[in-house]
Parts: sequence; structure tokens; C-alpha cells
Amino acid sequence: MSLDTSPRATAGGAPILLSARGLVKRYGAHPPVVAGVDFDVAERAFTTLLGPSGCGKTTILRMIGGFERPSAGTLTLDGVVLGDRPPERRPVNTVFQSYALFPHLSVHDNVAFSLTLRQGAGDIAAKVRRALDAVHMAGFGDRFPAQLSGGQQQRVAVARAMVAEPRLLLLDEPLSALDRTMRAHLQTELKDLQRRLGIAFVYVTHDQEEAFGLSDTILVMNGGRILQADTPETVYRRPASSFVAGFIGGATLVPGHVVGVAPDRTTIGTALGTFVAPGLPALGEGMPASLVLRPDSIVLRDDGDLRAAVRHVTFIGQGYAVEAEAQGQALRFASAESPRVGSTVPLAIVGDRAYVTAAA
Ligand SMILES: Nc1ncnc2c1ncn2[C@@H]1O[C@H](COP(=O)(O)OP(=O)(O)OP(=O)(O)O)[C@@H](O)[C@H]1O
Ligand SMILES: [Mg+2]
Repeated sequence: MSLDTSPRATAGGAPILLSARGLVKRYGAHPPVVAGVDFDVAERAFTTLLGPSGCGKTTILRMIGGFERPSAGTLTLDGVVLGDRPPERRPVNTVFQSYALFPHLSVHDNVAFSLTLRQGAGDIAAKVRRALDAVHMAGFGDRFPAQLSGGQQQRVAVARAMVAEPRLLLLDEPLSALDRTMRAHLQTELKDLQRRLGIAFVYVTHDQEEAFGLSDTILVMNGGRILQADTPETVYRRPASSFVAGFIGGATLVPGHVVGVAPDRTTIGTALGTFVAPGLPALGEGMPASLVLRPDSIVLRDDGDLRAAVRHVTFIGQGYAVEAEAQGQALRFASAESPRVGSTVPLAIVGDRAYVTAAA
């Protein structure tokens, strides 16, 4: 067993449960699907891998679970390098992308399955009852999977994964097959469950709203790399690249160049004018960059010095989502009132709610 050389706490001070260093997965001669990633998972935290289809999320989860062997790099859990340890000898459980309950076993037997394989699992019936209680499926023990709705099956899959009290629970898009209402409901339940049990979750999704609602930390991925590891607020307000800003959705990206850098303030020159906003520390004068505007970074205001033509207005409940255009640049913003489509309106950019990030 090798010694752990990784740090013992995250930047935020929470103790680290799992850390990955230089993790690579390559299939044959193709470019690696996981291209050397480093990340830490804090104890008791909800950590989410967020990224587009094919970016390597499931592959990372499978390496943590022991179902796939890394081509290079190390995974350390609780100070122990996992190496070649098989899945059943890792204090980790997985809820897979398509929930696979055993169709010929009852709910009770599905949940009890991993315990019946172990010596000294204790009072199995009591443990199964507690697990089913936790996912609000008490009383369903005698049913079979085919007699449950999709959401109920999903909850049983979660109960089955948590019954053995793993240190770490891996969940691969567990809610993707469900309708919006059921998904929202189960999101709340999962988050509650995670808090109550104090188990660390590593959760995979390509849905940014889901990631924002659940996570303490989001690891934003693309093309086998982690582009940013931060809280949801930071990923949203201070995206580390244009890709991150764009993937999170709802952003307007205005291309330009850095024309000035001061502590905490970056000045960017664009076709719409020059703007001052917080910016990525790595940006220097003359570098290509993007001004990231969120729906609340642009406001309709009489003294605004940007003239924009209103193209579309959509009612979104609390107000309107407006799409306008200035100098060929589309601008998306939120407004309490509905401006008239085709009219020209004055807009102002709120520098404090904008961000200057890397062009690519
Ligand atoms: N056994 C394999 N052999 C070859 N390539 C593979 C294998 N498994 C996965 N890949 C490739 O690795 C890449 C990453 O796959 P992965 O399943 O990790 O993506 P993902 O981020 O989970 O995507 P999704 O959101 O669609 O589930 C994909 O391009 C996929 O085709
Ligand atoms: Mg996947």
C-alpha cells in the first residue's frame, strides 16, 4: 500500500475524502477520454461533475468505483491509494446511469442484496427498513420493480446503494429518465438524504440547473478535462473560460480585448464599447477575452448608453426574458416590463454583475 501524498483539506478547509491526481483514461490509440485530471472531494460534500455528453463524466465515476482501471494517475480515498482494488473492496457504492434493479427480486431483496453477500452484515432486515424509510419507500418492500414508477425505482436504487453505508456514493445521472416534476422532487430528497446521512456524493449530470440546486462544488468538464472546480455561485459569476460561461446557459458573451488590468478590475474593449468589470486574474493587457453578461447584468434604463433593437420577448413568470441586438451582438436580459418588439431601447451594463473571462 503506497503512502498518501495528497493534501488533507480542500481550499475551503473541509477535510478531503477522495483525491484524484493526474488521472488519465485512454482506450487504444485514441486521444484520452480523461486527459489528466486533478480534483478533491471533501467529506460530507455534494460534488458534481457537469459537462456535455461524451466529456468523460461516467468514465471518471467508473474509475472511482473500480469498474475501470486508470491508464495513469492515482485515486486516494481516506488516505489510501485505491490502485487495483476491486469495486467490492472500496467503501464506495454506485447508482448507475440507467437504474438496474434486479427484476426478479422484490424491493426488499434488491436493497438487501449487497448485505447478503457479506459476512457479519448485522441485522439485515433493520438496515433495509432504514434505507427504504430514508427514500420514503417504507411499505414497498414486497413489490417487484415492474410494479413501481420510474421515480420509485430510482429511489430503490438509491436505497440499495446506501444500505451498506459507503463513505462515498457515486450517482450517474440518476434522475435523467424522469419527468421534470419528479426530478425536482427527487432532487430535494437526494439533497436532504445526503445532508442527513453525511455521506459524500459524487454526482454526474449534464443539467446545469440540477448541478446548481444540489452541489457544494461543481467540477465543470469538457473534452476529458476539468475546466473549473468551484461553488455554483463562482462558476456562474466568475466562469474560468468562455466555454464554462456558455455551457452554464443564459449568458451573453461579448468578444473583445483586454485594454487594462487593475487589482479586481479588468477593462475590456468590445464592439459595444469599453467596460470595466471583475476579471480572470490570468488575463493580461492585449489578450483576447470575452465579457460575460448574465440576464441581470444588462438593465433597461433611460440613461443607458447602449441602444439595442428588441427582437424577442418571452414571458417567464416573474417577468420577461428579452433578446435584443446592438451592433450585431445578441444581448439577453431580464426585465420586469415587456419592451415592444421592434423598438429601440436604452440599456446599461452593470459592471459588478459582469465578468471578463478568457476568450477560449
Ligand atoms: N469502453 C470504451 N471504449 C472506447 N471508448 C469509450 C469506452 N467507454 C467510453 N468511451 C468514450 O469515452 C468518451 C467519454 O465517455 P463517457 O461515458 O465518460 O461520457 P459522459 O460524459 O458520461 O457522457 P454522457 O453525458 O453522454 O453520459 C466518449 O467519447 C465515449 O465514446
Ligand atoms: Mg455518462
